[in-house]
Amino acid sequence: MIQLGVNLDHVATIRQARRTYEPDPVWAASEAQLGGADAITVHLREDRRHIQDHDVRRLVELVHVKLNLEMAATDEMIAIAATLKPQSAALVPEGRQEITTEGGLDVAGQTARLTDVVARLHDAGSIVSAFIDAEPAQIEAAQACGFDACEVHTGPYAQVFWEQGKDAALPAIRAELDKVRQAGALIQRAGMRFNAGHGLTYSNVQPIAALTGLRELHIGHSIVSRSVFVGLRAAVVEMKRLMREAAESCSGHNTSA
Ligand code: PXP
Repeated sequence: MIQLGVNLDHVATIRQARRTYEPDPVWAASEAQLGGADAITVHLREDRRHIQDHDVRRLVELVHVKLNLEMAATDEMIAIAATLKPQSAALVPEGRQEITTEGGLDVAGQTARLTDVVARLHDAGSIVSAFIDAEPAQIEAAQACGFDACEVHTGPYAQVFWEQGKDAALPAIRAELDKVRQAGALIQRAGMRFNAGHGLTYSNVQPIAALTGLRELHIGHSIVSRSVFVGLRAAVVEMKRLMREAAESCSGHNTSA
């Protein structure tokens, strides 16, 4: 069954706008879990712009589903993960000026360092995932480094979807979807888990959720945005329904083929 990791960074973004105590990401995690979240994701950034160290500590203790810690591959973050032992750690590139994660991690360009980082995170008991662009060289490198999973960057697909008319049948959108599909096939062939995320919304999620072998989607901004109007629990229920329907329609196709 396809799983949903709900990224709660933007709940903390609202709190940090006033440097106060609300909204509390732990409350948000409870609501997301009641809506059916399979994992809670937070990105502890080097600049602490949204999630704070104490959020991660409290979430590790209080979340009942998997806690996925998104992090840069720095010694500081590895030390935090080694202490807090999240169920999974997702390595992402981090730029000080970026509004959000802008591209995949260059695994191929730093295999020796990342092999060591993955080993240290395995020692902490975490499943380790690499957030990568849909490129074969990055997948091969992730396998060589010992990553358990690759999360394919769906940002380019989401961007084209938004710009080109929001119809997945359009050639430009199909082309981006095919890149994610092909990356997913390679990841599975390499014995790793195929995850995906970034830029996914209620309107563009279904073609991605229907891809064969997809294990987890990681979605944040769109769910938190919708929660302003319908509440977080309902926003998660709706996203899971869309994902489930898409995944079921694809397995229906596979059986009858
Ligand atoms: N996956 C990764 C690796 C991310 O960095 C982010 C954004 O923090 C997401 C998924 C979620 O992206 P979005 O907020 O666009 O849904």
